[in-house]
Amino acid sequence: MFNDLVNKMSLEFPDILREVITEKDLQNRIKELAIEISNDYRDKNLLLICVMNGSVFLTVDLVKSLTVPAEIDYITVGSYNGGTESSGKVTLFRDVQIDVTDYDVLIVEDILDTGRTFSFLVDHFKSKNPKSLKTFSLLDKPDRRIVPVELNYRGFVIPDVFIIGYGMDFLQKYRQVPFIGELRPEAYS
Ligand code: IMP
Ligand code: MG
Repeated sequence: MFNDLVNKMSLEFPDILREVITEKDLQNRIKELAIEISNDYRDKNLLLICVMNGSVFLTVDLVKSLTVPAEIDYITVGSYNGGTESSGKVTLFRDVQIDVTDYDVLIVEDILDTGRTFSFLVDHFKSKNPKSLKTFSLLDKPDRRIVPVELNYRGFVIPDVFIIGYGMDFLQKYRQVPFIGELRPEAYS
């Protein structure tokens, strides 16, 4: 059944080279992390910050599995001019609307790559003086790190390949793919 789906996806998305993380493994890991977060945030005032657009599916699935109250806001930042290479400069497009001073903030990112986006976000939220600040990333590509980032919750460590799916895009496409896939290098070279 699942193999049928993968075959169907690769037919419809010929630029996907292979499946890196299955939908089932993704969902299981998110549930595990939700249990950990629920334990850590008992008696806290949790605010999840969804980093748009890549973290949108992840934030929805994560919050649904939490057993403690949580609020959500979102922030939109970008460092890509399209394609697979970051420009290196992070731009804030839309800030959160909530005053975070009374909240235990958890930044929810799809993928930690060079670390520039996360270090920008951590500085940005620190300057707003939340009650506490922690970091979550579903995926981590440690081989690519340029700026060091302290990650409090990590889903999976992945190799240095360009990935798409589960919210992550290449030129705004492939976000709808339910698993994490590797993009064919020919697609962007
Ligand atoms: P960083 O600033 O280099 O750490 O990059 C972080 C952002 O770049 C992530 O939030 C993603 O939006 C994007 N990104 C990094 N690597 C990939 C990838 O392999 N596929 C899709 N987006 C990526
Ligand atoms: Mg992102």
